[in-house]
Amino acid sequence: MRILIHADDAALWKDRLASRLPSAEFAISGETRDFQADYLAAWKPPASLFEAQPALKGIVNLGAGVDALLNNPALPRDIPIVKLRDAGMGELIADYVRYGVLHFQRDFDRYRRQQHRATWHEHALTPKREWGVGVLGLGAIGYHVAHRLAEDGYPVHGWSRSPKTLKGITCHHGDDGLQTLLGQVTTLVTLLPDTPATRGIIDRNALAALPNGANLINPGRGTLIDEAALLEALGHGEEESGRLRGALLDAFPTEPLPEDSPLWRHPRLWITPHMAGPTPIDDAADQVAKALTAMQAGEAIDTVDPKAGY
Ligand code: OXD
Repeated sequence: MRILIHADDAALWKDRLASRLPSAEFAISGETRDFQADYLAAWKPPASLFEAQPALKGIVNLGAGVDALLNNPALPRDIPIVKLRDAGMGELIADYVRYGVLHFQRDFDRYRRQQHRATWHEHALTPKREWGVGVLGLGAIGYHVAHRLAEDGYPVHGWSRSPKTLKGITCHHGDDGLQTLLGQVTTLVTLLPDTPATRGIIDRNALAALPNGANLINPGRGTLIDEAALLEALGHGEEESGRLRGALLDAFPTEPLPEDSPLWRHPRLWITPHMAGPTPIDDAADQVAKALTAMQAGEAIDTVDPKAGY
């Protein structure tokens, strides 16, 4: 089997995959001309790559989110796509979210501002059992995050489009379920895929349904959040003036976040550069090798549904 790799760290992927698939032939995109691949293992490939590869039989997306791939105008529509499920990113994202929840629950944001003014003042602690956390998106990663937060002692509400039953998590679904969840959580965590149905889901109405003083953590996709509505809900300045106390944001519709974005400079926003869940390459390479072997053998495999967008 002939496998083409396209990724920033393509040499690393080639090394890890070659040791798992010793009889396969590999090439890195841009390095070899005239290599006609059977399979593509890629993260955000350019349209020109598909134009030069007419014989592809399958694609493995080297990440969990398939939005960039599905939005590629040259993507062949008739071949299977497999994506990384949780290859260890779930635990890394759970750590990121726990950091964010503690940041607000233990008032680190307020203490930081007080430090700037040399103010010694202790805030009354809201116990974990009274700090509801809502996780939007209960795929492999969302479920892992929700489960970890429940283990930590927070009342966790999860939301998905269709009904789910998950131990230790109060599950909601559909439009009404979203409203119910929003009314009950102090921290909202967004881990939905980017699809036409989820774009801008955190809009003015959704933010207005949160209790006053709520906060937001977005390690998912930037397109989920309506940026103007977010800034409006935050209000201006250092002091908590709007419905939203603050937010920790890791994903943006345009990345890198443009230098002139007002988000950089808002004093109650914490911005990180899409680092919440880097892919642990060894576990991911096991998944990729398994997917390629299964596709080659014509075995049934869990593939992406391009219509659903995940
Ligand atoms: C992913 C990502 O989807 O890194 O894997 O955003």
